[in-house]
Amino acid sequence: MAKYRADPFKDKVDLGVGIYRDLSGNTPILDCVRRAEKEVLDAQTTKSYVSAAGREEFNAAVEELVLGAAHPARRDKRARTLQAPGGCGALRVGAELIKDAAPNAAVFLSDPTWGNHAPLIGDCGLKLERYPYYDPISHELTFEQMLHRLQAANPGDAVLIHACCHNPTGADLSTAQWQAVTDLLERRRLVPFLDLAYQGFGSSLDADAAPIRAVVERLPEALIAVSFSKNLGLYRERVGALIVVSENAERADAVNSHMLHIARSIYSMPPDHGAAIAARIFAEAPLRHEWVRELEAMRKRIQEMRSLLAGRLAEITGGNSFDFIRTQHGMFSLLGVSREAVERLREKHHIYMTSDSRMNLAGIMPHNVTYVAEAFAAESGR
Ligand SMILES: Cc1ncc(COP(=O)(O)O)c(C=O)c1O
Repeated sequence: MAKYRADPFKDKVDLGVGIYRDLSGNTPILDCVRRAEKEVLDAQTTKSYVSAAGREEFNAAVEELVLGAAHPARRDKRARTLQAPGGCGALRVGAELIKDAAPNAAVFLSDPTWGNHAPLIGDCGLKLERYPYYDPISHELTFEQMLHRLQAANPGDAVLIHACCHNPTGADLSTAQWQAVTDLLERRRLVPFLDLAYQGFGSSLDADAAPIRAVVERLPEALIAVSFSKNLGLYRERVGALIVVSENAERADAVNSHMLHIARSIYSMPPDHGAAIAARIFAEAPLRHEWVRELEAMRKRIQEMRSLLAGRLAEITGGNSFDFIRTQHGMFSLLGVSREAVERLREKHHIYMTSDSRMNLAGIMPHNVTYVAEAFAAESGR
């Protein structure tokens, strides 16, 4: 980021950051957020403390958004939800909960995964393992190896899975693959730890949550870390939640008091402002409709840029080796080139990516797509 800022080149391209950008290169405040925020501030009478669990109406709405209104786990009172400071806060509380319940459990992370997973989960003392997930050269999931690796996990180990829009690969499990993974989790008595940071960025709010809903229907326990940083654009307000599903209502109550204890011991209580905005949007139909429309516009913009870039690369290279960019989901894909090529893209072409060649498709604009495609084709040797 510092190198990008320091580069005086007029047409430099930033594909490195992890945030959404619109066609003007801005990370906008959504209109629904602006309206809800005003209503929240107008109605607010105090800045007194909230509780460790956060806002009840926020937690209930998040549970419904993620699991769906009529999910059996909710009907059977097996789910408990804690408002958390962003998806990161939810991941950390989830990790602490696993650590307290099963100190010797390992958490399996996908290889590759988002760079913050290891510190967020490993720094509480849990052992980390990796499962092969994706081959950046063939641009395909390494699904058989994934199953093979997880087969060797011990009962009680947790498996962190990106619920949709995998970061950094953009490659998600198919419905059949989710089923096969769920079978394995059930058979090996492994605990799914699902990271939902991009609900609505893949296909729709409901479709992106569908794999989670199916997993939770089958398995006795699950943890779900939810983030509203991207889909509500509330990054700095730190809005997220941890949903924990337990075997029965009694255990869910015990888990809940444990989660509250963990929250109190780390940050006491979550920040209120962003969650108050989100709760208002979830509850009021006009605001919610506006949100769904704005979310769809963000998703479509990224999908359009994916198609445009893949199409331009097909024209330039005369082949389809970049077609994966069109078919993958969410903001990120791995270009699949060496660190040296990433450096050349930066030094020669002023195109910035992370060193693993992760590109943020929200950095692509109609005016820079040809420039980027030509540079990618030149430096990837295809
Ligand atoms: C995969 C993944 N999980 C979780 C998060 C958590 O985000 P936040 O703590 O900003 O809500 C992110 C953010 O980039 C992410 O990419």
